[in-house]
Amino acid sequence: MNKSIIIANWKMNLNLRERTALAISFKNRLGLAAGKEIVICPSFISLMQISEILKGTNLKLGAQDIFWEESGAYTGEESPAILKDLNCQYAIVGHSERRQHLGETDEMVNKKIKACLENKLTPIVCVGETFEERQEGQTDNVVLRQLQRALEGIEIADGQQMVLAYEPVWVIGSGQAVEPTEAEHVFQVMRQTVIDLWPLTIVDNNVRLIYGGSINPENVSGFTALDLCQGFLVGGASLKVEEFVKITALIQ
Ligand code: PGA
Repeated sequence: MNKSIIIANWKMNLNLRERTALAISFKNRLGLAAGKEIVICPSFISLMQISEILKGTNLKLGAQDIFWEESGAYTGEESPAILKDLNCQYAIVGHSERRQHLGETDEMVNKKIKACLENKLTPIVCVGETFEERQEGQTDNVVLRQLQRALEGIEIADGQQMVLAYEPVWVIGSGQAVEPTEAEHVFQVMRQTVIDLWPLTIVDNNVRLIYGGSINPENVSGFTALDLCQGFLVGGASLKVEEFVKITALIQ
């Protein structure tokens, strides 16, 4: 049985001093947390410093993005090997904010997932529908299509892990999560999609389904009660240490 995973996605928030202070608070309050995996994803520029702060703790480090080439003329990008050198164990891939603002496509997501797996990083692959797609009754189709394209040609070997995050785009940062029963339905679609791709033992042991979108201490228990939910991607509430500590305390 996989441990639950709780991922703090700090996005492009806080100044350098505030990020350091927040990482130190996480270390002091959660550094010895056991029985669950806690991952902090600061922006690229803060990875080096926060990697130092987290040394010797149980907290893990993740990048908010990754690039698929090893090196070369790719202005502004960073290579998987450098992320690995900085002690990253995870990378978020295909976050809706990157899809929306930076034109990240399913094809790019697919390359990024491959780069993660080749470099022993666990990809945190984000999928989810927009408000318009939901209104048109397209949620299942969108999630299915995004996953199928993202995972095309990808095999998971025994030692590799993958995290698949259902993040309904329209609730991210809104303060209002979806109904847990709706998330459970989408998790079923996601699980079936990966069962169609990989052996059941790999799906059960190496793939985790998590929820993201306005998670807070008040609503998290509705999701922990779900059969298929194995963790959370937390944005806004991960910038407030008290809220994040409360959330992690509610997760087994
Ligand atoms: P939120 O962000 O918790 O602020 O809604 C979640 C995410 O985008 O990962």
